[in-house]
Amino acid sequence: MGKISHTEALQHPIFKTVSKAAANLGLDAYVIGGFVRDYILKRGNPKDIDIVCVGSGIALAKEVSKLLPGKPSVSVFKNYGTAMLKTGSIELEFVGARRESYQKDSRNPVVENGTLQDDQNRRDFTINALALSLAEDDFGNLLDPFNGIADLKQKIIRTPQDPDITYSDDPLRMMRAIRFATQLDFIIEKDSLEAITRNAHRINIISKERIVDELHKILASNKPSKGFSLLHKTTLLPLILPELVALQGIDEKEGQRHKDNFWHTLEVVDNIAKATDNLWLRWAALLHDIGKAPTKRFDKKIGWTFHAHEFVGAKMVFTLFKRLKMPLNDKMKFVQKMVLMSSRPIVLASGVTDSAVRRLIFDAGESVEDLMTLCEADITTKNPAKFKTYHHNFKIVRAKIIEVEKRDSIRNFQAPVSGQEIMKTFGLSPCREIGQIKDAIKEAILEGEIPNEYEPAKAFMLEKGVALGLKPIV
Ligand code: CTP
Repeated sequence: MGKISHTEALQHPIFKTVSKAAANLGLDAYVIGGFVRDYILKRGNPKDIDIVCVGSGIALAKEVSKLLPGKPSVSVFKNYGTAMLKTGSIELEFVGARRESYQKDSRNPVVENGTLQDDQNRRDFTINALALSLAEDDFGNLLDPFNGIADLKQKIIRTPQDPDITYSDDPLRMMRAIRFATQLDFIIEKDSLEAITRNAHRINIISKERIVDELHKILASNKPSKGFSLLHKTTLLPLILPELVALQGIDEKEGQRHKDNFWHTLEVVDNIAKATDNLWLRWAALLHDIGKAPTKRFDKKIGWTFHAHEFVGAKMVFTLFKRLKMPLNDKMKFVQKMVLMSSRPIVLASGVTDSAVRRLIFDAGESVEDLMTLCEADITTKNPAKFKTYHHNFKIVRAKIIEVEKRDSIRNFQAPVSGQEIMKTFGLSPCREIGQIKDAIKEAILEGEIPNEYEPAKAFMLEKGVALGLKPIV
């Protein structure tokens, strides 16, 4: 077969520099992996470039640094035999070509020096094993021993070797296969899919952080449901997010059925992916119904119920984040809040009052728009009339939120009369009554009995204090 050249992929001057450095050391060097894949797919200009050389990657990195203006520092990872340097916005990663063999109970391979072909062999997918030569007399030539280009064109995820070996060697690749299929809208080839299913249990040797990294990427894609249904199909999902799998299924009792909350959830996630790039809001969509599995009951009079599922779900968010070693910080609290409040706007959609909207803004605070986005995504009814009505009503709620907020400034609610002032007015030291008066003022504002302003709130405070048996001293 004739050589195919992709010199146009290597226009950035850094490639000539690496080429020169490799020639100085008498090494063969290649660009490999994601850069080549994404170039062929026209996925924009990747900032991470992987260079493989037949010889020492560390020595090559050092030589490249010498040739670059300012001689950028080289970070060396001796254990892995890799080195990294940054130049401008580009991050170059260097590795010596190697042959790897894996032990059953570890992701860490036994590594020996190898040829380019050995190195391509040990890579995860044919589409990630594409290499472009950086040799001066062969610059830009494509080395594609596994027909990765054909797989790119046909949108196929395939492993260079027997998939059972590729996935068992490094079980993270099962997640990567599903993530790439989701991000690129590719198909995982049949043998691979079966091998993933056979090796699913091996995911247990992968760190939670790396699993979550892949989950983030699946969630950040245009159609996350593709990834989650593949995780489900290959039986990886129960090992990672059993709470979601528990939502699957439709029960019927006395002729009454509830919807399948697993497939509903995936629809919600796809809906929200069209509306926002906020990863944590997407997580909230994924988890918004997880409380429904443990709270499901059948009541002869009212049918299926999921009483307090939002509250239970919010608690489960904490356990789930903890198990997956995700941050237990404000992001987690945001997801909890969204899950907890996920049914609030739907109640409003059937009748919007100012006071209900004020309460919604008060409780959701800064996140009120995100909450509306979640609730709009939650509309998955297949009844077009109902679909239209819900969306129309949510539009009204959104407009009302803007109107009420403009008038009443509830979003970052600060009591117009402070506790200090209440104490001074009635000559009190800290006591229960102060809290009672503050609460009463807040309630009166939310109910619309008084505006959110100082003078009316002060008058209300005096009235309330007197009703509690207090006497103003000023
Ligand atoms: N690789 C692999 N097995 C892994 C991880 C990576 O074989 N578990 C190889 C692939 O050849 C991959 C390259 O290492 O192309 C670089 O890995 P990485 O930077 O993680 O992925 P990219 O393919 O660059 O893609 P992305 O940045 O989207 O993760």
